Amino acid sequence: SQVVTADYVSSNVRFEDCPSDGLPEFALVGRSNVGKSSLLNSLVRRKRLALTSKKPGKTQCINHFRVNDSWYLVDLPGYGYAAAPQELRTDWDKFTKDYFLNRSTLVAVFLLIDASIPAKKIDLEYASWLGQNQIPMTLIFTKCDKRKKMKNGGKRPEENVEVFQELIRGYFQTAPPWIMTSSVTNQGRDEILLHIAQLRNY
Ligand code: GTP
Ligand code: MG
Repeated sequence: SQVVTADYVSSNVRFEDCPSDGLPEFALVGRSNVGKSSLLNSLVRRKRLALTSKKPGKTQCINHFRVNDSWYLVDLPGYGYAAAPQELRTDWDKFTKDYFLNRSTLVAVFLLIDASIPAKKIDLEYASWLGQNQIPMTLIFTKCDKRKKMKNGGKRPEENVEVFQELIRGYFQTAPPWIMTSSVTNQGRDEILLHIAQLRNY
């Protein structure tokens, strides 16, 4: 399950315009700034294939990256970015959800959750929406390296991860798979690639 090639293919806002070659795909979604683009780069071992930024709101389209000429990683805009104009946020939310509901080659959605902070309401709501719509989901906890900079009263990533899973339990018939990651240390990279290989072979 190693990545040999990774190529940027296209950016779209309508799911109908996305690549039509039928290859299976895996989409990264999560709050703005949670580390979607960074994780994609970590997975394919490229520093700047997907563009990242300290400022939220960097990714604004459905971006397809083809891996090993046989499957796609899809980078999406984040949700919950309060500083973006409301109109733009509504747009992002609508076209990503349209994409989730209608894209037939989508194998699974990877919902990224920041493990360095306590659960956020908007993340719980997003997980609930995915559960209600029966969209296959894997929880990817990000920034698990940020354990030393915990503020007073801040919890360790392991505790945040456990609490989050407890809070979403009711939304799913069976608990979603979950993986702890860091794009700084590349923790979880092999586990995600193995997970993708397993999902592709079903
Ligand atoms: P949008 O495209 O704006 O929705 O953001 P995104 O989810 O793609 O986040 P991005 O990958 O651009 O990363 C946002 C910020 O978080 C950047 O400053 C990254 O360097 C930082 N970051 C991402 N992943 C990690 C991680 O695993 N650990 C740490 N410490 N920082 C991270
Ligand atoms: Mg991004």
